[in-house]
Amino acid sequence: MRTIFAMLLALAAAAPSPDDSLYRALGEKQGIARLVDALLDRVYADPRINDLFKHVDRPDLARLVGEHFCHETGGPCEYTGRSMTDTHSGLAIKAKEFDAFVEDLVDAMEALDLPTRTQNRMLKHFAPMRAEIIDQ
Ligand code: HEM
Repeated sequence: MRTIFAMLLALAAAAPSPDDSLYRALGEKQGIARLVDALLDRVYADPRINDLFKHVDRPDLARLVGEHFCHETGGPCEYTGRSMTDTHSGLAIKAKEFDAFVEDLVDAMEALDLPTRTQNRMLKHFAPMRAEIIDQ
């Protein structure tokens, strides 16, 4: 019995446990749904970028961005959408438009009172996707 317990402990220590701390800091699925909603409120109202979203079904987008945030931050979600390159390559997104989107994200995180550390972790995780999203 003791040996089995020791073996299980060793296995648990050896297995790489996925880091879901950012997912939890966002408030898990419910917190992410709130964040995506606050983000899309701003994006759809942002004259710098909202033309790009004119024909995009908001509930569909909210579901996919929610899955993506959840999956990327270590949460227990499968992302069923397209890759960032495939999704955005035809949209000719300019660097300035990417920056506007990020400003809307920061504004949404502020509105939800997410701690600065959590906000910074989000930016650190998603900022590198810029290269896949903007039109070079
Ligand atoms: C790190 C930043 C971003 C992330 C993580 C992200 C994520 C996503 C995801 C998950 C989807 C759904 C994918 C699918 O339809 O299969 C999507 C769609 C879309 N994104 Fe982004 N996005 C980002 C930045 C931007 C920016 C900067 C813009 C424009 C200013 C933008 C415009 C759009 C549009 C218009 C769609 C809908 C495309 C369509 O339905 O054909 N995204 N994005």
